[in-house]
Amino acid sequence: MASSTFELPARGSFPTVELAKKAPKQADALLIATFAGEEGLEVPGTSLLGSSALRSTYEALAAVGATGKAGEIVKVPAPQKAGAAQVIALGLGGVEELDDEALRRATGSAARATAGVGTIVTTLADFGVTATVEGLILGGYAYRGIRSTELTEKEQPSTFIVVADKSVSEEFEAARTVAESVLIARDLVNTPANELYPESYAAFLSGEAKEAGLDVEVLDEKQLKKQGFGGILAVGKGSARPPRLVRLSWKPKKAKKHVALVGKGITFDTGGISLKPGNGMWDMISDMGGSAAMAATIIAAAKLKLPVQITATLPLAENMPGSGATRPGDVITHYGGLTSEVLNTDAEGRLVLSDAIARASEDKPDYLIETATLTGAQIVALGSRTSGIMGSEVFRDRLAEIGREVGENAWAMPLLEEHDEEIKSQAADIRNINAKREGGMEFAGTYLKQFVGEGIEWAHIDIAGPSWNGSAPRGYTPKRATGVPVRTVVAALREISEA
Ligand code: BES
Ligand code: MN
Ligand code: ZN
Repeated sequence: MASSTFELPARGSFPTVELAKKAPKQADALLIATFAGEEGLEVPGTSLLGSSALRSTYEALAAVGATGKAGEIVKVPAPQKAGAAQVIALGLGGVEELDDEALRRATGSAARATAGVGTIVTTLADFGVTATVEGLILGGYAYRGIRSTELTEKEQPSTFIVVADKSVSEEFEAARTVAESVLIARDLVNTPANELYPESYAAFLSGEAKEAGLDVEVLDEKQLKKQGFGGILAVGKGSARPPRLVRLSWKPKKAKKHVALVGKGITFDTGGISLKPGNGMWDMISDMGGSAAMAATIIAAAKLKLPVQITATLPLAENMPGSGATRPGDVITHYGGLTSEVLNTDAEGRLVLSDAIARASEDKPDYLIETATLTGAQIVALGSRTSGIMGSEVFRDRLAEIGREVGENAWAMPLLEEHDEEIKSQAADIRNINAKREGGMEFAGTYLKQFVGEGIEWAHIDIAGPSWNGSAPRGYTPKRATGVPVRTVVAALREISEA
């Protein structure tokens, strides 16, 4: 691998979504909305169909039993002179219940169900521009892995021509930028660990970041040693692939606030000497999801030209049980000097994050947002779709609220008093696990808190469950990598930049 550039071996495919003032004369399909009314199917008016075409479409849909319930997709032949072969009716559910999330889910399902159709014209943005664009792009994303064969015709993503007034073009472009940034995070997380390891990952991020106008700094293992990043080195030294620390920065002139972003970048987590069981270990290719999300977020912020200073600090390491690996019982010295007794080498995320948080705190940012696939306990506590957020109370609560507002479910979690005792070690300043299983997510939060600089509003988002979808696709959430919590953090940055 050339050390300066790296292309991912495969990228997901996704629909092209374009804004147009007027419908093209000819397309493959019209995508229209339907509602589930009190008396059954309702078809709202659209500029794509005249009144008699609308009536005959309604009749065709009613005849095949369309109900308009949320996510329902029914295809019927288009009426004469509609300029398309078929009408695809997308159920939006009850008109009263329609909100951005319902629209995003429905358009997501529509994009997934219409691969291979071709050119599709729609006025769905009438019900919400951002939600429509996000739903189509996020839902239409498909990662098929690294294959010897090309996409079949049926797998080709469609092109959506969104017919709407020119006045929405700014919102439209911003939504597309955010959605496509989420896909960068997904592509990274979906890439297997033999391809994506600290060096290649750092090279990829450098390329993407420079293109977006960010400053880039990459520390290699020698520089990490010189500067005292003992946590990152301790995790990385069991692997033949040495660790990296990537720093990306966005410094617009008009910025009033500075936000530090930190994300866990374990390119593969075997557990190290505290080895994980083999079954399901393959999902640990996703253990760099926090860093991927933060990289995607700062790239989105730069493309949106948000007037807020942002610095992303991304520790990248592979947690392997090689002969040089850290042993249970070892004592390590973190960046900044705090020492830690490593009782379990599978609690490695906190070891790399604490170095990164300490480094990020040196810049004295106003806010520090960190995200990580940190604990299985997060999934036990909140399930696989809801992130757990810990940190400064007001900021933590606001971030959890923002998460729910954008459709990335999140819940505020407390840091537990008992963990202040349990984190004490007999051999070092602190230890990396507690003796009990209770509150595993919160204990990790308490560990990280030790490294946050004074006066910084901080939040830790545990995304162990929500960053990866091990089940079937739903709405705009595909299988495997989801890209959570990119949209939450982008929305938070927007809010901070507007304050
Ligand atoms: N990367 C894992 C957490 C994880 C588990 C993420 C499942 C996604 C799905 C993390 O490094 C880990 O192994 N955590 C341990 C901590 C324990 C040893 C205190 C865990 O949760 O079991
Ligand atoms: Mn682990
Ligand atoms: Zn891990």
